[in-house]
Amino acid sequence: MTNVDLIGDEHVAIETTLNGKPLKRRVKARQHLADFLRQELELTGTHLGCEHGICGACTVLIDGNTARGCLTLAAQISGKAVETIEGLTESGKLAELQKEFIERNAAQCGFCSSGVLLTAYELISGGEALSRAQIREALSGNMCRCTGYHAIVDAVEAVSARAADRPTRERS
Ligand code: FES
Ligand code: FES
Repeated sequence: MTNVDLIGDEHVAIETTLNGKPLKRRVKARQHLADFLRQELELTGTHLGCEHGICGACTVLIDGNTARGCLTLAAQISGKAVETIEGLTESGKLAELQKEFIERNAAQCGFCSSGVLLTAYELISGGEALSRAQIREALSGNMCRCTGYHAIVDAVEAVSARAADRPTRERS
């Protein structure tokens, strides 16, 4: 395994990039990434719902792709770049989506919102104007018990349409 050193039976040493900053840690060998982020690093914007890969509340980006924090071991992020809702918010990469979500009331209790936003961010980063069916399909792995999805789809559709109208160099 690259960049991972076993330390006895219980811990491994990892080197990763988290929200743009290098991070070296000893992690419990069986600790899930979502628990590591929440319990060890106090990055509690990554939520835990089902804890078995169904609800999408624990979504993070690993090397730019969405991944389930509850199905990924912390040890598996060694050598990779992880981004969470906190990092993407701080960098401003989610600003347009977040503004649209607020204006359209697409976040109510907010429990699903970090996962939904990260999935939507990955979806619109292709820069294409997306149909509502494409958006619904892409978000089908993110459960929301409050909104009925309509406002979420409206928000993602609006941002994707604007992104598609922009010259490629202006897209983030
Ligand atoms: S907590 Fe990971 S998918 Fe539900
Ligand atoms: S806003 Fe409450 S679960 Fe989606």
